[in-house]
Amino acid sequence: MGEDNVFRMIGDLYGELERSSVRPLFPADLAAASRRSAAFFVGLLGGPPLYHQRYGNPMMRARHLAFAITPRARREWLACFDRVLERAPERYAFPTEHLPGFRRFLGDFSLWMVNTDDGTGDLVDEAGDRRPDPTASGEAAGGPIRG
Ligand code: HEM
Repeated sequence: MGEDNVFRMIGDLYGELERSSVRPLFPADLAAASRRSAAFFVGLLGGPPLYHQRYGNPMMRARHLAFAITPRARREWLACFDRVLERAPERYAFPTEHLPGFRRFLGDFSLWMVNTDDGTGDLVDEAGDRRPDPTASGEAAGGPIRG
């Protein structure tokens, strides 16, 4: 799908986030935040490890600790991503056959970002067997998903 398409896709994700209830978690400069995220997703989706090159070790869980991410915020974030993925094959040449795996990745990986209980009770249920952040040592730079 190419680097430009990934940057456009994540740009649209941040457009959704801007209109969502999780907007207050994000910094004022959403465009810059979008570019940092896009760099990560380029590497994840089989492109060059831009995030690692530009910003260092991803350590995604550790980086997200600065923000109070509740199970509800995670669901909202995923809903934003879902809306973007609905037309991803046409808009960003996202390979259709990789969509189910990518959605699965987002669902699983986002569990590691939840760091604050909101009393809905699903923090433990869903993340019960949480494993260490796989990006902590930078393995995600190569990325488990190709496309
Ligand atoms: C699959 C799960 C996720 C991935 C791969 C991911 C990826 C990223 C990346 C790459 C960044 C940029 C880090 C940096 O500043 O250098 C970031 C920032 C951030 N993410 Fe996530 N994220 C995920 C889930 C979530 C969830 C569920 C939330 C909660 C709503 C969230 C909230 C944030 C916030 C508030 C920032 C800071 C914005 C900034 O300054 O860059 N993320 N995320």
